[in-house]
Amino acid sequence: MSQELRKPATTQSWDKAGWRAYPRVQMPDYTDPVALAAVEEQLRRYPPLVFAGEARRLKAQLAEVAAGRSFLLQGGDCAESFSEFSADNLRDTFKVLLQMAVVLTWGAQLPVVKVGRMAGQFAKPRSAPTEIVNGQELPSYRGDIINGFDFTPEARVPDPQRMLAAYTQAAASLNLLRAFSTGGFADMQRVQSWIADFVGGPEAAKYRDIADRISDAMAFMRAAGVNSETAHQLSKVDFYTSHEALLLEYEEALARIDSTTGLPVAGSGHMLWIGDRTRQPDGAHVEFCRGVQNPIGLKCGPTTTAEDLKVLMAKLNPENEPGRLTLIARFGAGKVGDHLPRLIQTVQAEGAHVVWSCDPMHGNVIKSSTGYKTRAFDSILREVREFFAIHKAEGTIPGGVHFEMTGKDVTECTGGVRAVTDEDLSDRYHTACDPRLNASQSLELAFLVAEELRARREEAAPAREVARA
Ligand code: PEP
Ligand code: CO
Repeated sequence: MSQELRKPATTQSWDKAGWRAYPRVQMPDYTDPVALAAVEEQLRRYPPLVFAGEARRLKAQLAEVAAGRSFLLQGGDCAESFSEFSADNLRDTFKVLLQMAVVLTWGAQLPVVKVGRMAGQFAKPRSAPTEIVNGQELPSYRGDIINGFDFTPEARVPDPQRMLAAYTQAAASLNLLRAFSTGGFADMQRVQSWIADFVGGPEAAKYRDIADRISDAMAFMRAAGVNSETAHQLSKVDFYTSHEALLLEYEEALARIDSTTGLPVAGSGHMLWIGDRTRQPDGAHVEFCRGVQNPIGLKCGPTTTAEDLKVLMAKLNPENEPGRLTLIARFGAGKVGDHLPRLIQTVQAEGAHVVWSCDPMHGNVIKSSTGYKTRAFDSILREVREFFAIHKAEGTIPGGVHFEMTGKDVTECTGGVRAVTDEDLSDRYHTACDPRLNASQSLELAFLVAEELRARREEAAPAREVARA
């Protein structure tokens, strides 16, 4: 552990508005400062969406992930939208995440920490400030919390009122997610029966063996008298929310002081992450995130240098607190070997405690032959496998996975057992931003990742036996 990384957070003062003095990228220029100030004032008066104690609990659970005693599953929409907001959509995405978590629990033989890209994932970084359609150039769509998706000059003007609509939607989403998590919907027995339904169909039959083994484990527990009545852990789950901390006016207005610790905490969601385009070590986003106590994710892409990573770790996790920092690797299939080893070696050399998670989505965007922005299931799987192989070679812990997915039967990514083709993409292409795995593709990926985790455990088992003897 270098001295620099150990420097306590308090050696540099922090204020929730301090980011305003730093260079900012990917943020809107609001045209009406009076309207903006009124919205910020209103948000400052609203209750936070999450409780600081919950963010602390998530951090403790992520510390278990960093130590290899739990596995992280993070997933949800690329961009939540106002128009797709419904109880059914929330339920379906939550339902698939629960199924994936059970399958991964079987594979890893570890508890799975469940974090949704939900209830706040509204603001989007874009590769270009404007887009051209049929010769007309307009500002890019930046997520429903900033401007509108419709390709009209009016819709594309950043409107601060949208922050209030996003807050309301996030509050209603969280309310339902909390009810789902604890009100009986998430009962392990039900989740297992949904998994059995999925593998009951002809396409997914190849995963039946794993599903049967999960059913057997459940049947054994029931026979032994362990059920949702006797073990309440089986009837409810811990579920957390996360989003990219991109729109700093919104984040600042929802930041609060945790009454237990007296320290600042983001009230907009349990975990925040810094995107690949906004991780400048001297930029506004890093400045804001370094001061809130929530778990922080940091996207690491092909352009992340070892030097930047060192500085970012020192800024974002000066006390080297396990669970505070999750490094989310997103390089693209075939490129993980070019970048991940050097970043792992940097982390090791610093003695830093981090969670390593794999986002196999953002490095694998391609244009289909039919003109859609898509991702191929096989590339996604390949990146996950490369991530695991490199951690194995480096002797480090592949702690989790990060997916863009939905519970709906959309056609946005190609491949999978129900083989979505380039021609199918136009059928149900609903995303407001990046292409998501549909319910079947998400669960299939969980099965394949589970097999990978299981194989790793089995390889490690003889070594453990020797160690014990
Ligand atoms: C995202 O997670 O939606 C995203 C934009 O990712 P990245 O910052 O890694 O490109
Ligand atoms: Co995305």
